[in-house]
Amino acid sequence: MTQDRDGEAHLQVPRYSGSARINHWVVAISFVLLMISGLALFHPSLYWLTGLFGGGPTARWIHPWLGVVLIIGFFGLFFRFFAANLPERTDWVWLARLRHVLAGREEYLPEIGKYNAGQKFVFWAQAILVLVMFVTGIGLWPAGLAYFEQLLGFKATIDQRRLAAVIHAGSAVMTIAIWIIHVYAAIWVRGTISAMTRGTVTGGWAWRHHRKWLRKEIGKEPGGPQPAE
Ligand code: HEM
Repeated sequence: MTQDRDGEAHLQVPRYSGSARINHWVVAISFVLLMISGLALFHPSLYWLTGLFGGGPTARWIHPWLGVVLIIGFFGLFFRFFAANLPERTDWVWLARLRHVLAGREEYLPEIGKYNAGQKFVFWAQAILVLVMFVTGIGLWPAGLAYFEQLLGFKATIDQRRLAAVIHAGSAVMTIAIWIIHVYAAIWVRGTISAMTRGTVTGGWAWRHHRKWLRKEIGKEPGGPQPAE
C-alpha cells in the first residue's frame, strides 16, 4: 500500500513497465513535434511555427527524420500492446452501450480487460495511419525517396507523388483528431495519466474501469498486486 498526498491509503496496481513508458513518451514527443513541423510546412499561415525548430529549412529537414523516430517507436508499442488490443465479444457490448460510457454509468457495462473498445480503436487506427503516413511521406522526401527507389528498383511518377501528398495530408488530419480523443480520454478518466507517468494505477481505478484485467493481475500474484515501490 502507498499513501496518497491526501493521506488516504491506496493499493497501487502496476500497469506499465519503465521501458513501455519510455517507448510511449518517445512516440508521443515525436508525434507532437511531427504535428507542429508538419502544420508549419502545410500552410503559409502556420509557417511561423518553423521558428520552434530554428527556421524553415531545419523544420523541413527534421520532419521526415521525426517520422522515422515515430515509426520505429510505434513499432515497439505495436508489439508490446497488440495482443491486449485484439477484439473481444465484450467490445461490441461496450460500443452498443456507448451512451452509458459517455454518461459515466459503468455499472451498465461488461467487465473490461486491459483496454476498452475505444482504446482499441485508437490503437488500430493509429497503427494504420502511422504506416500510411510513413509510406506516403517517403514520396514527399527527396532523399528518402531516392534511397527507396534504388533499394526497391522503381521510379515514382509525379502523379503518384501528388497522390501521396493528398493521402499524407488527409491521414494527418485523422491522426491528429484521434490523438486529441486519446489525450482527452486520458485526462477525462481521472487517474489514467499516472499509468503512463508512474507506471501504476489505483486499485479503485482498475476495479472501476478495467475489472477483468484487475482480476487477472490479482490471479498472477498469490498475495494480489504488489505495492509499486
Ligand atoms: C502526447 C500526449 C499523450 C498523452 C498525454 C498520452 C497518454 C496516455 C496514457 C495515460 C495512456 C495509458 C492508458 C491506459 O493504460 O489506460 C496511454 C496509452 C497509450 N498511448 Fe498515449 N498519450 C499521448 C500520446 C500518444 C500518441 C501520439 C500515441 C500514438 C500515436 C499514443 C499511443 C498510445 C498507446 C498505443 C497506448 C496503449 C493503449 C493501447 O494500446 O490501447 N499515445 N497514453
